[in-house]
Formats: sequence, structure tokens, C-alpha cells
Amino acid sequence: MHRPQPSYSAPTRFFHWAIFILLLIEFPIAWTMPDVRRDTLPHGLIAWHIFFGTLILAAMLLRVLWRASRRAPPELPMPKWQAVAAKFTHGLLYLGFIVLPLLGWMNASSRGWDVKLLGLIPLPALSPSGSSWGHEMGDVHQAVAIGLLVLIGLHVLATAYHEVVLRDGTMRRILVSWRR
Ligand code: HEM
Ligand code: HEM
Repeated sequence: MHRPQPSYSAPTRFFHWAIFILLLIEFPIAWTMPDVRRDTLPHGLIAWHIFFGTLILAAMLLRVLWRASRRAPPELPMPKWQAVAAKFTHGLLYLGFIVLPLLGWMNASSRGWDVKLLGLIPLPALSPSGSSWGHEMGDVHQAVAIGLLVLIGLHVLATAYHEVVLRDGTMRRILVSWRR
């Protein structure tokens, strides 16, 4: 029951919640920015979408590098299928939030837009200007964004199940340090 559990390292916890907050900003921007058409220029909310999107990509790459250099805390006791489902979901979230901004970037490059990290550091074009496949990546970008929202929903539901039904302290592993 309420036994303290070894938690994730401080940087892992920081990345988890920082990226959560960035996504809370990025999705509403995506839904309120003007429709992107053939002659649309990346100004206003669209520029902010690229600003936060590339920031999320950079943070995710650092997060994955950090995570790969460390062991995760030992798994909580749970049926094998649940442990596999949790690993699979976490892996898909890591992969998804790297692929998603790359797809948006491919689409932006196909529109001839210059993509910059933090609006300052120029990034290379990921598709030739005017390319039809780069253009199609815009639809894939939108579909993947919705898929990842559903996955986050499942992730949060699983957390709620651990907290409310199992009461095994899962949330504490990602929130605060484990003290002896
Ligand atoms: C994790 C980061 C990102 C999220 C969550 C995200 C989410 C979204 C969503 C939900 C839409 C659809 C908006 C609508 O329904 O009208 C969208 C569109 C778009 N995003 Fe992103 N995006 C991200 C990163 C990026 C990046 C890094 C770029 C470019 C460098 C980008 C460029 C675009 C473009 C150009 C569109 C319009 C696509 C089209 O209409 O064909 N996004 N984004
Ligand atoms: C209210 C929102 C959220 C809650 C309550 C939540 C909760 C949690 C909890 C409790 C864990 C630890 C799981 C364990 O000990 O096995 C965790 C890990 C994780 N969460 Fe979330 N999370 C949220 C949002 C997100 C979002 C938006 C993402 C998307 C990037 C995400 C990605 C991950 C990943 C990849 C892990 C695995 C960490 C690792 O093994 O390195 N979470 N989350």
C-alpha cells in the first residue's frame, strides 16, 4: 500500500513535467492558429507553433539521451502484461513526440519556410521546397498528433488506476524524490 518507492531521477522528472507543460501550450496553439494554406506565411500563432514545436523536439532528444544513460527505477510489482503495456506505451510516447515535430518540420520545409530553433538557430530543410511528399506529411502530422493525444489519455487513465485502485505510489515515482 503506501510504501515509498524509488523514484525517477530529478532530470527525468523535470523533463516529464516540462514537456507536459510545453504540450499544454502547443496543442491549443495548433488548434487556434490560422489554417495553413498554399500561400500562408509562418507568422503569428504559426510562428509560435514552430517555436514551441522545435523546443519540444530539442527537449525530447535531450530527454531520451538522458534516459538512455540511466536505469529506470525498479518496476513496481504488477502482472507481466501490465508491465509490458507500460513499457510499450512509454516507448511509443518517446518515439511519437520525436517523430511528430519532425513530420511538422518536413511539411514546413516543403512550404519553403525557414525553420529555426527558438526562432533563432536556423535548422536544415527536411524536404525540398514544393515537394509533394513533404506536403502530405502535414496530414500525417495532424493524424499522429491526435493518436498521441489518445495515447496520453490512456497513460493518464493507467496512472489513475494505479493511484485510486492499486494505491501503489506510482505517481510519487515521477513527482518527488524517494527518501529513506
Ligand atoms: C510536439 C510538437 C507538435 C505538436 C503537438 C503539433 C501539433 C499539431 C496539430 C494538432 C496540428 C493540426 C492543427 C489543426 O487541426 O488545424 C498541427 C499542424 C501543423 N504543424 Fe504541428 N505540432 C508540433 C510540432 C510542429 C513543428 C516542430 C512544426 C514545424 C517545424 C509544425 C508545423 C505544423 C504545420 C505546418 C501544420 C499545418 C499542417 C497542414 O495543415 O498541412 N508542428 N500541428
Ligand atoms: C497528467 C498527465 C500525466 C500524468 C499524471 C503522468 C503520469 C506518469 C507516471 C505516474 C509515470 C511513472 C510510471 C512508472 O513509474 O512506471 C509516468 C512516466 C512517463 N510519462 Fe507520464 N504522465 C502525464 C503526462 C505525460 C505526457 C504528456 C507524456 C508525453 C510525452 C508522458 C510520457 C511519459 C513517459 C515517456 C514516461 C516513462 C518515463 C521513463 O520510463 O523514462 N507523460 N507518467
